[in-house]
This record gives sequence, structure tokens and C-alpha cells, in this order.
Amino acid sequence: MPSFETLLLERREHVAIVTINRPDKRNALNIKTREEGAAVLEELRADDSVRVVVLTGAGDKAFIAGADINEFAGRTAISQRAVMGARSLFTAIDTFPKPIIAMINGYCLGGGCEVALACDLRIASENASFGQPEINLGIIPGGGGTQRLTRLVGEGKAMEMILTGEIIDAQTAFAIGLVNHVVPLDQLQAKTLEIANRIAEKGPVAVSLAKEAVKIASRSNLDEGLRREVDLFALCFSTEDKDEGVSAFLEKRKPAFKGR
Ligand code: COA
Repeated sequence: MPSFETLLLERREHVAIVTINRPDKRNALNIKTREEGAAVLEELRADDSVRVVVLTGAGDKAFIAGADINEFAGRTAISQRAVMGARSLFTAIDTFPKPIIAMINGYCLGGGCEVALACDLRIASENASFGQPEINLGIIPGGGGTQRLTRLVGEGKAMEMILTGEIIDAQTAFAIGLVNHVVPLDQLQAKTLEIANRIAEKGPVAVSLAKEAVKIASRSNLDEGLRREVDLFALCFSTEDKDEGVSAFLEKRKPAFKGR
């Protein structure tokens, strides 16, 4: 595993914790961080010992305070497009085959909110805050915010956040369905790891297929989604884990899933 300049990587049994490590810059996403984020996910994708990834920001002030605004200065439309077209962190998260949980410990703004939105679950501390403040800079969200936020919380709430740039607190984010849980900061890691470990105990192939199936829901019409669900459901029947899961239930014991 290569070492990273802007990230920390820790493993706790089947859970990998990736920490964006620029706390003095509120973990803002510069090009290096985006590249390393995509690279670490490529490594973790291929590592069968990792079943769930937790993504967080260093320190207790920020998850990610957005794109690194310093890099916007002087950038042309063409150079910005080239940067965004390169190995995108948002796409790397979105297409990652295992669950990724955003552990949100403070400012979750702009590109940071978009990173959280690309993840599968969002667990926030009480001091977390959320927003798409790009409008204040004369730009709009470009990391999927207009699409993923709208799908998650509905057009009215997404429109308000994106047009006003308003920052909302963790409880409000919970109320609109932007985050799954809100807990005190000192319980954030324990709560996140509890959920991560619960998922990591399941059959990894079924978890991956379940993630794929759920993601299809917001990208297709109902008939196509239901058809693809049946295919993915049937695919589970090709795994040893399905035989193990069914046998374990019938034999009244805990299943030992192998990820095959
Ligand atoms: N890009 C680049 N640098 C950022 C940053 C960003 N998105 N967010 C914070 N920083 C830097 C600050 O410039 C400052 O750097 P400095 O110490 O070299 O001056 C450092 O992080 C600390 O920020 P500061 O504003 O002093 O901390 P704070 O805790 O008082 O406020 C924020 C935190 C997140 C509210 C504030 O920094 C902010 O509004 N950031 C921009 C958020 C944003 O618009 N994001 C969307 C970008 S598209």
C-alpha cells in the first residue's frame, strides 16, 4: 500500500478508515487530495480483506470544507474542465463496489457535501454543518450536488440550499434526510464503526449487489429497476455465501460468509 501525502489510512479488521488530513485547511479538496482519494479507493477496491470504507476528515472542525478555493483563482473554463474530467473522486466513490460511510465531524460544505452525498451512508456529529455555498463564489456545485442532493432530499430543499448557499446544522440535515444519524462528537466514531461492522459481518457479495441494486433506483425507471433487481437477486444464488446463509438459518447457527 503506497503512503499518501494528504490522507491517512487505518484498518480495523474488515473496515478501512480513510481520513483527509489537511485540518489546517479544513480538509479542503485540492488536486492532490482528490487524486490520492481516488488512488486509495482503487487500492481498497482490490483488497478482499476490506469490506466497508469509512471516509472522514482530520480534526474536530471539518469533514471537508469544500474544493480548495485557492485553486480556482486564475483557472479558465478549459483548465477547470480538464481538472474535473481527470480521475474524479466523486466518480471513484460513486462506483466503488463496497459500502462507503461518510463520518461527518464538522463543516461539510461544497465539494465536501458532494463527497458525503456520493457516499452510501452519512453519520454526523452534532457539531456538523452542511451547505452548498458555491453560489456565494459566483459558481454552482460541480461534484454532483445539483443531482445527488436533489435525489436525496427533494427538489424544494435542494433548490433552497443551492440557491441561497445557506448552511444548515446537523439536526436540520437529519430532518430533511441528508444524514442517517446525528450523535455527539465523542460518539461519532463508535456509532460509525458499529454500523460499519454490522455491514462487514454480512456476505460481501450480497452487500455489493444490494448496493448496486439500490443505486439503480434513482437512475432508472421502476420497470427497469425491478428487472435489474431480479437479475441481481438471482445472481446471489450463484454464491457459496447464499448456500451458507440459508444453511446457517436452517441449522440455527451464525453464518460464516467467505465473500464467494
Ligand atoms: N478552500 C481553501 N482553503 C480553505 C477552505 C476552502 N474551501 N476552507 C477553509 N480554508 C482555509 C482558510 O483559508 C484558512 O486558511 P489560512 O489559515 O491559511 O488562512 C483555514 O482553512 C482555516 O479557515 P478559517 O476560515 O480560518 O476557519 P473557520 O473555522 O473560522 O471557518 C469555514 C471555516 C469552513 C466556515 C470557512 O473557512 C469557509 O467558509 N470556507 C469556505 C467554504 C466554501 O465556500 N466551500 C465551498 C467551496 S466551492
